[in-house]
Amino acid sequence: MTRTLKMDAPFRDHRLDQMPQGLTGQPLDRPEGPLKVSGRAPYAHEYHLENCAHGVLVRATIAKGRTTDLQDAPVKAMPGVLGVFSGDRFLRNPAQGGADEAPVQPGKEIAYFGQPIALVVAETFEQARHGAQNLQVQYDAAQDAELDPASASTIETPDKKQVDQGDLDAAMKAAHAIIEADYTTPSQNSAAMEPLASVASWDGDSLTLHGSYQMLKYNRNELADSLGIDPENVRIISPYVGGGFGSKLGIAPEAVAAAIAAKALGRPIKVAMTRPQVFETTVRRSETRQTIRLAANAEGVLSALSHESRVSNLPDEAFSEPVAQATHFLYGGENRRVVHEVARVNLTCAGSMRAPGEAVGMLALENAMDELADKLGLDPITLRKRNLPDHHPESDIPYSSRKLVECLDAGADRFGWSERAGPGMRREGDWFVGMGVAVAARKNILSESSARVTLSADGQVTVQTDMTDIGTGSYAILGQIAADMLGVPIERVDVQLGDTTFPPAAGSGGSWGASSAGSSVFLACEDIRDQISKRLGCASSDLTLKDGAAIVGQDRRPLEEVLGAKPLVAEGKIEPGDTSDDVSQASYGAHFAEVAVNADTGEVRVRRMLGVFAAGRILNQKTARSQCLGGMVFGIGAALTEEMVHDRRDGHIVNHDLAEYHLPVNLDAPQLEVAFVEERDDWASPLQSKGIGELGIAGAGAAITNAIFNACGVRVRDYPATLDKIFPYLPD
Ligand code: MOS
Repeated sequence: MTRTLKMDAPFRDHRLDQMPQGLTGQPLDRPEGPLKVSGRAPYAHEYHLENCAHGVLVRATIAKGRTTDLQDAPVKAMPGVLGVFSGDRFLRNPAQGGADEAPVQPGKEIAYFGQPIALVVAETFEQARHGAQNLQVQYDAAQDAELDPASASTIETPDKKQVDQGDLDAAMKAAHAIIEADYTTPSQNSAAMEPLASVASWDGDSLTLHGSYQMLKYNRNELADSLGIDPENVRIISPYVGGGFGSKLGIAPEAVAAAIAAKALGRPIKVAMTRPQVFETTVRRSETRQTIRLAANAEGVLSALSHESRVSNLPDEAFSEPVAQATHFLYGGENRRVVHEVARVNLTCAGSMRAPGEAVGMLALENAMDELADKLGLDPITLRKRNLPDHHPESDIPYSSRKLVECLDAGADRFGWSERAGPGMRREGDWFVGMGVAVAARKNILSESSARVTLSADGQVTVQTDMTDIGTGSYAILGQIAADMLGVPIERVDVQLGDTTFPPAAGSGGSWGASSAGSSVFLACEDIRDQISKRLGCASSDLTLKDGAAIVGQDRRPLEEVLGAKPLVAEGKIEPGDTSDDVSQASYGAHFAEVAVNADTGEVRVRRMLGVFAAGRILNQKTARSQCLGGMVFGIGAALTEEMVHDRRDGHIVNHDLAEYHLPVNLDAPQLEVAFVEERDDWASPLQSKGIGELGIAGAGAAITNAIFNACGVRVRDYPATLDKIFPYLPD
């Protein structure tokens, strides 16, 4: 039986606050941690199947056109080479996870430099690589490749994403103070630690794929679509995933290529992407050009707000970086404009990466708010507080919960915000020192998810769902919820994830994983509690489960006695409902940064950061904190170092490895602090939790550039804030 809850109304029963063990929320360790740090948790590439051969992808070296001839005969004659595969079922680029459209399969058409066009398979990896390096491909190159989003000939403006409310221009004219500024952010790469890899094997018509993916129920459909087979015949196994950050949301070319070759050769095939292939052949975050306009009265109350952006993607791709996602709901201002343009270009596919929308949109918006505060001579925290509307400023719906003021106040106090001086006023030796603040906000999403829970007579609990753990803590929190609900010690819960033979889950994406998958486990456990109550003849509200015993009033019975020999099994399923539209749901927070800017070189060092966040119920203080720390480190990257550079001639990514694409490393990241504000959001899920995975990055980089301004008076609007954008403008 399946216990289903559609979130059509707020869930006011704070059941998890009443559980006697009180495990949910505790900073418990990840159960799989020891396996990971000792190298015993197998990642996709580490599955060694008997008789497995190796494939290496060959990719296009033109930006646009078609292949006319794959001269594969000499390669096929090389030692160990088993075949060269290409054709109509090859993927052009990764599917977009969760999208309804089937993945794009291009035939011979080339849409960007780096597009996969063939797979060379050999007995060993080295032989396959040698073959791939020697495959001579003939092209018919088109001369009209679009490589510059600024001048692209096709610009689309999807209707759903535009807002025009009131009279923006009149409000700008009438205002006491205005800001009108352009901001830019570059192409970026997710840079998950584990590169994509797939091991495909067939048993008759049934395909098994060991892969590294975030959303298995969608990935299974995408893989089946790509191959033209029934999803029933596809199994994906992905229990451990070395980070995703969006790059593993949709099925990628290596999986499809491995499956095609494995079928043809009748043996397992392993295909791993190199780091440059991950950069060029998965997804990038689109570069953005943004214009922010703000108009305010003398007290700083906004009368107008506009956010115009241009992003880019390949032709025919549905996704476009939702730059203004937080702008819609964060601040008031009656007169509003949102313009969203998508330039069609021949560059690596743009897709979701680390808080798509907020991560880059809030760099601009929160930077502009800092400019406005400076112009008005107002404290930037005061300015934010004066502009938090009672209702959604565009749709007029209420907020489900928003403890943003609490985050700002608690953070200011803890960070020592009152010590902040004006630009250029705090000098320590060769360094200007300054502080900055920015708001964090990330839209909250609930997504359909199901799970099966089994309680056996000896008090052992098994949780099964095809949910993934991409480093986020799914194993830990799902175990905590089940242990709490069923009253067993955490050690007695075995959480099994990452296999499409288990009930289909929401997967890991968009920060919805923990709430969605957690709710399904909660519901399955509720069902088991009801089954037990029924046996005991009591109301389920009178039942306490604790330490493997069922307690009703004075009566305490071991679970063994209640269950007999037969385990209790239940499935739970959460479905999003009216609460997704009736209220505005988001997680909030406040970022504080202190930076030092070298007075001679313009070098920026982040000295300390504090993030204070409110995201409904925190399901595990430790894994939630880690998520936020990671987001803040990525905020340092967005502010100071991360930038993918496209060659102007053919669009290829010049810095396609971790040596040249600069993620913050230990020396760039100081001691970071994270704190949470207690909150319950009844509208979000039966757990009263909201998303947290991507909250930490939203706004973080703006706190840093705002701190740069406060340190030395240089306003950087072109991210990342490298030395060349600071040095020329430093005061003498
Ligand atoms: Mo996320 S960028 O939806 O993995």
